[in-house]
Amino acid sequence: MAIRMNGREVAAFHRQRISRETMEYVQRTGRRPCLAVVLVGTDPASVSYVTSKRKACDEMGFDHRDYELPEETDEKNLLDLIDRLNADADVDGILVQLPTPAQIDDDKVILAIDPQKDVDGLGPVNAGLSLMGHDGFVSCTPKGILALMDYYGIQTDGRRVCIIGRSNLVGKPLAALLMQKGRDATVTVCNTHTRDLGAITRESDIIIVAAGHVGTLTADMVSEGAVVIDVGTNRIEDATRERGWRLVGDCDYDEVRRKASYITPVPGGVGPMTITMLMDNTLIAARRRSGEKS
Ligand code: GUN
Repeated sequence: MAIRMNGREVAAFHRQRISRETMEYVQRTGRRPCLAVVLVGTDPASVSYVTSKRKACDEMGFDHRDYELPEETDEKNLLDLIDRLNADADVDGILVQLPTPAQIDDDKVILAIDPQKDVDGLGPVNAGLSLMGHDGFVSCTPKGILALMDYYGIQTDGRRVCIIGRSNLVGKPLAALLMQKGRDATVTVCNTHTRDLGAITRESDIIIVAAGHVGTLTADMVSEGAVVIDVGTNRIEDATRERGWRLVGDCDYDEVRRKASYITPVPGGVGPMTITMLMDNTLIAARRRSGEKS
């Protein structure tokens, strides 16, 4: 039976560190790190993420600026707001919750954010620095996954890692990080066109599922002792819950955990790590902007 990787516990460990380092930063500089949190529209999942991000700012002693724009906001208005935040000396990090409504091109939004304030690490400068193995802002979910693996002592050196999903948010940056010197994994990135996915996952020591579909990874696709990291966050109907739904990941947790050596639950696995790493990046941004070494 797999050891359950407790993202809440690991996130709490890092949050303590970030809070302590933030206090020290405030004492040195007389200012708090400040994150601008931008939400366009009222998508329930996005509202919930943004609420958690603001709460995390409060918890860690950061300032935050909250912008809630209506669903029908046009692209230019959002890009103008980003320009103002780029120029605002009090703002260290800019977080625009994605996806934005259909009339807005997310890529343009990402490109508009000053790389020094791109604490999501999604823009081309930071993504490129990561790919080259240099320090930029590492995008939050991949950074959280690495922190989770480090906490549990999971080695990647020489191991075969299969990533299911090639998104700019998770799959691509994670592949870049795992293949770097120091991590030294052999990485295979799969997508919906991959033939015989099971043959690849069964050969893998570590499987990271970020497909966004319930039931993507089943027990027959996992070899005994593999490490399974589930990045999926899918809402499924559940009449037994007052709110009518519950969150599940991309893997069949109850069956897969019987074969895996380590597994992340959903919720309570990767999710809490992502927000924590956003805070970590915002503190790094604040230090760099104050002329400190990060
Ligand atoms: N939507 C889902 N995950 C993320 C994330 O990490 N950052 C942003 N900005 N939007 C998201």
